Order: sequence, then structure tokens, then C-alpha cells
Amino acid sequence: MRLTDANLLAALPALGVERVAGASLAERTSLGIGGNTDLLLIRKHESLPELVCRLRAAAIPYRFIGGGTNLLIPDGELPWIVLQLARRDPDIRIEGNFAWIDAAADLGRTVTTCAKRDLGGMEGLIGVPGTVGGALRMNAGAYGTQIGSYVREVEVFRAAAGKIETLRGAEISFEYRHTSFAPDDIMLAVKLELPSKPFLEILQGIRICNEKRRSSQPLNQKSAGCIFKNPPGASAGRMIDELGLKGLNVGDARVSDRHANFFVNAGHASAADMLALIAEVRERVRKAYGVTLENEVIVWNE
Ligand code: EPU
Repeated sequence: MRLTDANLLAALPALGVERVAGASLAERTSLGIGGNTDLLLIRKHESLPELVCRLRAAAIPYRFIGGGTNLLIPDGELPWIVLQLARRDPDIRIEGNFAWIDAAADLGRTVTTCAKRDLGGMEGLIGVPGTVGGALRMNAGAYGTQIGSYVREVEVFRAAAGKIETLRGAEISFEYRHTSFAPDDIMLAVKLELPSKPFLEILQGIRICNEKRRSSQPLNQKSAGCIFKNPPGASAGRMIDELGLKGLNVGDARVSDRHANFFVNAGHASAADMLALIAEVRERVRKAYGVTLENEVIVWNE
């Protein structure tokens, strides 16, 4: 979709918003899949309410993208404008056991920056790609750690109310790959409280998690991480593997040979290829185990 509203285009510079015309979402997602649209890169995060208000007034549909690491976006010309927060500098501020982090900050860099200040707890999240905002929304977790455990405050733009609010951690429910945020809420910043730990001890934990991840996940291939959530008490990856589905493909969309819950783009997979592979695997698991796997990857539907 192209922005043609002259008033809105004229207002962008003062709002601190840069327009990337006809941006390729395939180049901005870890799966390497996604069509084209105008992308609005928001440098002044405080402009978000006014920008969204103007988009709504002009009846321009929009979607928001964080790091693009857990997303499956359709091909072709997209029917939405896409918003993205630009990274700010500095994006991490630490005082005592508290870290204030911008939503656009890289999650891995956040873990290491806090580690250098002897703040641990998030070792398991090392290697989870994406932004802190995306990790918050999904309550990203790995190796026994989930980001929600450390959240004390979240600054969030609530699109329904049209304003920025600060929520206390206790007001938000963080469950397995799910939070109580509304679908159109946009994370702006978070305050974490982290336990003190000596840097070398944190580093050791980080090394162990990195090694586990390297040995079990296809890190050098394009993917969106795990495609399905784990059903209660089971592992989707193990179920798919037990059915012998590693290597199953639709076009260039392929079940990873390394971890069966990672579906990789082995070349030029289309969104339709990936969706067909997801449907096929879900159906085979349902027939064999009577369990309907739920998507972990966020699929943008038209
Ligand atoms: N397994 C297989 N075959 C496979 C994959 C896994 O037999 O192809 C077995 C493993 O041997 C292990 C069990 O299944 O005994 C669990 O595997 P793993 O430790 O890899 O964990 P997972 O449940 O598949 C979850 C998260 C990952 C996270 C890891 C490590 C979900 C959907 N996935 O995977 O998160 O990195 O634990 O904590 O919760 C993601 O969210 O995108 C993601 C990758």
C-alpha cells in the first residue's frame, strides 16, 4: 500500500517519522518472506499517538512490526502501511538492579549489556532474536527463563484509548507465549528488575545456552523460530520429528532437519508455501495424536 494522503505525508517530518516507500518486508523478517508496502520508521517514539490518530482519521489501515523475527507476512503488495520504531541511542539505562529499556532495543544486546553491569537472570534469552518490545508482547522464553518474570513497568501505546500508559508489572499477565496486552497495543519501553550476579557467572550461563541452541536449532537458516506452541506437557518438535516429517517441504518452505518445530525458508519460499506446510503438518499431527497445534508464529491475514 502506498501513502498518498498529502496532509499526512507533509506532517511526517515534524513527527520524526521517515517514510521508506515500497519497503520489502521479506528483507525485514527473519523468515525472508513478505511483500511490499510503505514503511513508517518512527524516530520520535512520543509521536506514535498522533501518527496513529492521523492514520485512523484518514482511514489508512496499518500494522506494527518489531524485529520481524516471529512473523509470517503475505506476499505481494500489502494492504497495510507498516509502522516500526527506530532504535534510539542510548536504548538501555541501568540504575542499581533496574534497567529501563526501549522497546526497539535488541534483546540479545540487552542481555549482554545488563550482564556487563552484573545483572543476570536473562541468560536463557540469549540467542532469541528480535526486539525487547516483541519479546514482551509474546513473553519470550527459553531454557527456563521468561522475560515477564522481570517486568516491573511497561510503557505502552494503547491504540484503543489513543494514549500512552504506564502499566505496573502486576497489572499484566505473562503466560506461556501469551500476555494480556491487547492486539493493537504497541510496546514503547520496559523497566526490568534483575538479580545481581557476577559477570563471569552470567557469561558461563550465556555460553551454556548458546551451545544448547547451536546444537539443536537451525541458526544459520531463515526461520521464525518455533512455528507451533508446545501443547501442555508435550513438545511439538518431538511430535513432528516422531512422525518422520523432518525435511517435508512445500516449495522452498521446509521442516528443518535439525529441529522439527522450525520451518525454514530454504530459498525463495512464498507465504503460501509456508502456510501450506503449516497446515499439512498440523493435520498430520492431529491425525496421529489427536492434538491441534496452535501457531506460535504470528500470521498476518488479509
Ligand atoms: N526434540 C526432538 N526432535 C526435534 C526437536 C526436539 O526429538 O526435532 C525433542 C528434544 O530432544 C527434547 C524435546 O523434544 O527432548 C524438547 O526440545 P527442545 O529442548 O528443543 O525444546 P522445544 O520444546 O522444542 C522450546 C521453545 C523454544 C526454546 C526451547 C529451549 C516452544 C514452542 N519452543 O522448544 O523456543 O528455544 O524450548 O528452551 O516453546 C521459539 O519460541 O521460537 C523457540 C524456539
